Amino acid sequence: MLELQGKHIVLGLSGGIAAYKAAELCRSMVKEGATVQVVMTEAAEHFMTKVTMQALSGRQVFGSQWDDTPASGKNGENIANNMPHINLSRGADAIVIAPCSADFMAKLLHGRADELLSLLCLARQTDKVPLILAPAMNREMWANPATQRNVAQLKADGITVLDVGEGDQACGEVGDGRMLEADEILADLVAFFTPKSLLGQKVIITAGPTYEAIDPVRGITNLSSGKMGFAIARAAFEAGADVTLIAGPVSLATPRGVKRVDVKSAKNMLVAGVKYADYATIFIASAAVADWRPANLADQKLKKDGTGKVPELSFVENPDILATIAQSERGKKGLSGMPDGLFCVGFAAESQDLLANAQAKRIRKGVPLLVGNIGPATFGQDDNALLLVDAKATKELPPNGGKASKRDLAQQLVADIAARLGVQA
Ligand code: CTP
Repeated sequence: MLELQGKHIVLGLSGGIAAYKAAELCRSMVKEGATVQVVMTEAAEHFMTKVTMQALSGRQVFGSQWDDTPASGKNGENIANNMPHINLSRGADAIVIAPCSADFMAKLLHGRADELLSLLCLARQTDKVPLILAPAMNREMWANPATQRNVAQLKADGITVLDVGEGDQACGEVGDGRMLEADEILADLVAFFTPKSLLGQKVIITAGPTYEAIDPVRGITNLSSGKMGFAIARAAFEAGADVTLIAGPVSLATPRGVKRVDVKSAKNMLVAGVKYADYATIFIASAAVADWRPANLADQKLKKDGTGKVPELSFVENPDILATIAQSERGKKGLSGMPDGLFCVGFAAESQDLLANAQAKRIRKGVPLLVGNIGPATFGQDDNALLLVDAKATKELPPNGGKASKRDLAQQLVADIAARLGVQA
């Protein structure tokens, strides 16, 4: 499923060096299934050509309100009324201004409309066409009280102002104010369009494997990639939750907006889990926690002694993070559906008899919902099949059998949890 399938976006460029990122943004929006209508200010044309944006969007780029080319909105009909400022935004799912200069924000704030882009923003149907700004400017311009006042007022007017990036700027200075990267704006846009089914919820997710050290250079781990847990974290954030991801050693990028706590061993993961679960409303344990750890951690690297003798390792059982949290006072309240409880969701990585194992594991862990999957078939893969087991019934995801991407499954699981908690979008 493409992330922006069926969406029609008006992409406005105002003047700024960051206009080069708008080319990539346009391309990724189109790749994700959106139709994109580009509108550029005269200043933007000093930084980016219309030719590039036309080639990437596949549509004529508009720049002037006096352009008499018939202009159309989402439905695609060309209206020869010489009113691009009206037609272009009609039916649009959003107007995204990227880059949005300090000057353009000031114009929007005052409702000025002396060129096509600001004119069409003013003429949009405010109840139907959201306006999203990706600011781009020098750090002093961004920090200036005038700009900050404008940002606050634009937000109060119902306009979405995205964050700015921080770091090296084209002018050579370093600080806040540069435009987000294209993939970050795309992620924010996808989140913007997602129904807020978990608004107000605080979600804790464990993900990935754990690493149990034998000595300073060796340890025991497993093949879990963390992809499912990271996908759930992303979907929960998009659904409006405050999300903390407790990640074992994996090399995955943190989903935008998600707070991440890196841990190594099961013991570390337990400490972090208990700490954060205290403030959470939902706990999802997707980590493949090592069941055992070496009984003794050697201070120095174990060496061969030349005789061919191998070291004898003995193990002790790790704490069960899910069971510990699920059987806490708030976990128990969550199991019996009480309002201030913690709703705990376990995973079961099985290699056979998924249904029977998942049902038994749900009861053993003391959780209201357990999500079963076949571990060897999914570790490291981008797709999976889930079996949801609660006290009364079972449910397959995807609903009609087969497999689906972890991204799709994460969205379906989040929607399912939201429905169980009665927080419908
Ligand atoms: N889990 C946990 N802490 C552990 C072991 C497991 O929090 N020490 C959690 C996992 O994150 C998962 C669920 O418990 O949500 C089940 O994990 P799984 O590895 O399938 O089962 P185990 O409890 O380890 O049981 P077994 O290995 O016997 O199947």
